[in-house]
Formats: sequence, C-alpha cells, structure tokens
Amino acid sequence: MSNPNEEIMKAIAAHSNLGSYDAARENFSWQEIERQFTWSDTGRINMAFEAIDRHADSGLKDKVALYYSDDNRDESYTFGEMKRNSNRFGNVLRKAGIAKGDRIFIFMPRTPELYFALLGSLKIGAIVGPLFEAFMETAVRDRLEDSSAVAIITTPALLSRVPVGELPSLKHVILVGHDIEPAEGRYDFYKEMEEASEELQIEWMDREDGMLLHYTSGSTGKPKGVYHVHNAMIHHYYTGKIVLDLNENDVYWCTADPGWVTGTSYGIFAPWLNGATNVVRGGRFSPQSWYKTIERYRITVWYSAPTAFRMLMGAGDEAVKEIDLSSLRHVLSVGEPLNPEVVRWGMKVYGQRIHDTWWMTETGGQLICNYPSMDIKPGSMGKPIPGVDAAIVDDNGKVLPPFRMGNLAIRTPWPAMMRKVWNNPAKYEEYFRLTGWYVSGDSAYMDDEGYFWFQGRVDDVINTAGERVGPFEVESKLVEHPAVAEAGVIGKPDPVRGEVIKAFISLREGYAPSEELKADISKFVKEGLSAHAAPREIEFKDKLPKTRSGKIMRRVLKAWELNLPSGDMSTIED
Ligand code: WTA
Repeated sequence: MSNPNEEIMKAIAAHSNLGSYDAARENFSWQEIERQFTWSDTGRINMAFEAIDRHADSGLKDKVALYYSDDNRDESYTFGEMKRNSNRFGNVLRKAGIAKGDRIFIFMPRTPELYFALLGSLKIGAIVGPLFEAFMETAVRDRLEDSSAVAIITTPALLSRVPVGELPSLKHVILVGHDIEPAEGRYDFYKEMEEASEELQIEWMDREDGMLLHYTSGSTGKPKGVYHVHNAMIHHYYTGKIVLDLNENDVYWCTADPGWVTGTSYGIFAPWLNGATNVVRGGRFSPQSWYKTIERYRITVWYSAPTAFRMLMGAGDEAVKEIDLSSLRHVLSVGEPLNPEVVRWGMKVYGQRIHDTWWMTETGGQLICNYPSMDIKPGSMGKPIPGVDAAIVDDNGKVLPPFRMGNLAIRTPWPAMMRKVWNNPAKYEEYFRLTGWYVSGDSAYMDDEGYFWFQGRVDDVINTAGERVGPFEVESKLVEHPAVAEAGVIGKPDPVRGEVIKAFISLREGYAPSEELKADISKFVKEGLSAHAAPREIEFKDKLPKTRSGKIMRRVLKAWELNLPSGDMSTIED
C-alpha cells in the first residue's frame, strides 16, 4: 500500500496551488483528501500512530521528534523513542484495566512525560482531557466530575488539588514524581514505565471515535467538554501543511500549553503528522528565554499568541538585536485579535510578517487564516482556508454583504469539528441553530476582497491573555466568598492582555469595602479556581443591575466601565 500522506500531499499540491487562492478554493474538496487516507488494512485509524509510529517505522526513526528544555532539564527524543515511551505508557494503562472510551485527565506541567502520557492514552483508545497546570481544586473537580473520569496523571505537587475522595469514578491516580508510595489505585509513573513492555498492540479506532475532551468556557454555565474525534487528523495534517507550512526539515515551536486546544492540535498533532521536529520549552515566560529558545534550536516556524507578542514588543527592540533569529521563516499567531501595530513591529524587528489565524476549541482546527502565500492585511484574520466556507450572517442565518457586521459562521461540517459537548446535547445544538451553519459567537465583517475582520464576542465570554474565561464560573466562585452577596464579571480592555477580568461586587451585611478585602477576594478565586480567572480589578457597588428575573446584566456593567450608554434598559429590575 502506498504511503497515505504522500498521496495527500499530492492531492493538496494539485488542488491548493497556494499561489492562487481562488483556484485552490474552487478545486478543493475534503472528500478528495479523505479518499487518500486509506489508513491501515482495516480502514481504522489512530492519531498517535499517524503522528509518531508511522515516522518511527520509516526513515524518520532516528530523527528528533521532541526537544525539551526548562531550567533544570535538557532532553531530546527521536520518533523511535517517542514510539517506545508512548507504547510503554499505553501498557501501563492497560495493566490498570483502563480501556477504549475511558476518560483520562492529564494534569501536569509541560514535560516530556506529558507527551508520552497523552500519546500512550490515545494509543489504547482512551479519551484524553488535558488540564492547565494552573487549575485549582474547583476547576479540576468540575471537569473530572462532568466527564466521570476514571484516571488522572498528575504530579505529587498538584495532587492536593485533585479531590480524589469526592470523585467516585476516579479509580486511578498516576503520579509523575519521586519516592511515590504505591497504594491501591495509586501508581508510580517511572516505576510502571520501567516495567512496561515497549511493544503495544494499538487500539485501532473508527474515524468518529472519541479522542479528546477540551473543556472550555461559555457565557453561561460551567465549562463544557468539547469532544473531538480521531478524524480531526485530516484537518491537522492539512493545515499543518498549508497554514503552518511544515515539512520534515522544520524545527517548529508552538508556545501553547496542551491544556489549551492550540497546544494539542498544533502543539502535538499538526507538527508530528507532518514529520517536523517539535520544540517544547517548560517554565515561565521571559523574553530572554523565549528568544534564546529560537536561537538555540534554530526554530524555523513559530506559532504563538498576541499577548506574548505584545509582551515581547514591550521588552524592546534591543532584546532582539543580541539574538540570532535568522532561522525563522514563518511566524503565526492565534487566540485573540492581533493588533496591526504588532504585525508592523514584527516586520521591523523579526523581518517576518506575523500570520494571524482564527479558530476555536470547538472548531478543532484552523479555519480562517493568513497563510504563507497570501498578502497580509494587518488587523485581518485572513481568509477561509480552501475547503472551508465562512460567512457573516444575521440572526436568521441570512448571509450579509461585505462590510456588514454580523455573526461569524462556518458552513458545516469540516474534519476537525467537535462532535458533541459532553453530557450536554442542548449546548451542542445551540451552535448549529442556524441550519447549515456553525455559529461561532464572534462578530466580524468581511471586506470586498474576502478578508475577515474580527469585531468582538457576541456573548460575555472574556478573552484574557488569549485564555477563554466564562464569567459565570468566576461569579460562582466569587459568591462562595463569605463577604460576597452578588457578583458580576466582565472583561475590561487592556493594552497587553487584550482584556482583564473585572468584578463588580455587592457585599453582605456586616462587611465594609476595603483594599484588603479586594485582595482577599481575588486571592480566593486564584486559590480556588485558577490564577487566570482571578479578577485583577474589583469594584464594590451597593447594588448590581439585574433583570426582573434576577439575572445580573453584565452588559450594563460593561457600559458603566466604558462610560457608554447602557442600551435597552426595559428589562431592568428598578
Ligand atoms: C478568539 C482556540 C481574534 C475568538 C484557538 C474565538 C480570536 C475565541 C482569534 C476562541 C483571532 C481566536 N483573532 N480573536 N485570530 N483566534 N480568537 O477556543 O473570540 O480558547 O471565539 O481558542 O478566541 O477561543 P479558544
């Protein structure tokens, strides 16, 4: 059988002549690309096999798949080693009785073990829920509870945030650390790995079988589990090629954590499906360590986010001059609006156009992008990639003409599209309420050349430093604080982070406003939920604006904050 990827490459080359956007669009069909994927003899697939084993079993066996460094570690792993380590981990899980379809969470810092664990879990057909290391107990509990997770892979330092005793489904805790006392349901990662075989019988999956659960925020309710399937690989492979422009000679760095969909779709799958070398840098952000990472590994393709670029811009042009960034040939951004000013700065100091890309946790893969051969319009997210239809529609699903602002919608389906919201079919249906369209929740307009321009969210979802925060989740935590009677949370515009979280709070009887109380309330959210969800600003109010049905009107809070008219007040309580 021929190499399926070679076939796809040919199909893409034939149909998406990147020099001609219009021709590529006209001739493109996902079916054509899909048909090239004949997979194994059984017609079944597995993402981890395609990303790692296929290369390990071919000429790329000894090629470095992963470079990892942080302040204490400095390592590299070939595709062959990634295959063996993920096989071992698959066996560790099987031995514990974990099987296809089980939900497994990974809650640990970005180290090579995280990647072995994630790939190994996929190899046995488990559904992986990656969690940010910054999550505190409530955030962890909500997600494990909702999905009835059976296992978690974490570190001794993070274990106190996992309320094991309160989660009846959670049977297995695998600890990545030293001096672990094994006990019933508790495993020493390194010891288990050492004892496990390097040979694994991969679980072959149907294309529509579950792969990932990425919890993300909406404007109402708790975070929802966005469910992705193995079929998404078609999309990751394709966009890895035409948007990231990756090939086997690239050394690629995606700065996102796998707790975020960018860190899986484009931090794991797209680069490895394309046989590129992947760089992971652990530890905290600093301009120096980031630039050094590019210089040291001679990174060729770099995918990051506007907040990071703004912070680098803030660190000054001098910081760049001391570093050799000549290896860079392609730079991309995702997650929040990319300011034209940042694009211009990138051209000046990196000699690179920063290519904006738009997509969401729910979409699983990039949809609207500036890709290498296109002319960039600084401030625009780009155009729908060949194979994707996007439009601006009104609330009835009518397509609007250029320059009219409305709902950014995508014609369904596409390969990486979420297949459900865990435990919540009603929530899922909401996205598809306009027949034939996925409604993103973003507002935008399209110009007369087909470029899309982001305008904002239509709902109350906050985007702070590229992280999606649901105001409801923060409000729920705030009202658990003994001093807080009611809370309303909004995103306040911020020059570096895009938005910061601001909470309006009315206090309970017996509590007086003070700076100490503000600090205490903020700390309460930080320690209960997560640092990025904690309000940076708090304002006390005697009363919060509410609808007659008792819903806090965040729209009015936002208008107060921005000194804007409050709009339609007909539903306000008094
Ligand atoms: C926002 C997954 C402007 C948008 C990648 C979207 C963007 C939300 C861009 C998804 C962009 C993402 N320009 N806004 N290029 N990319 N967004 O699921 O509001 O965490 O709906 O991101 O981020 O957030 P998520």
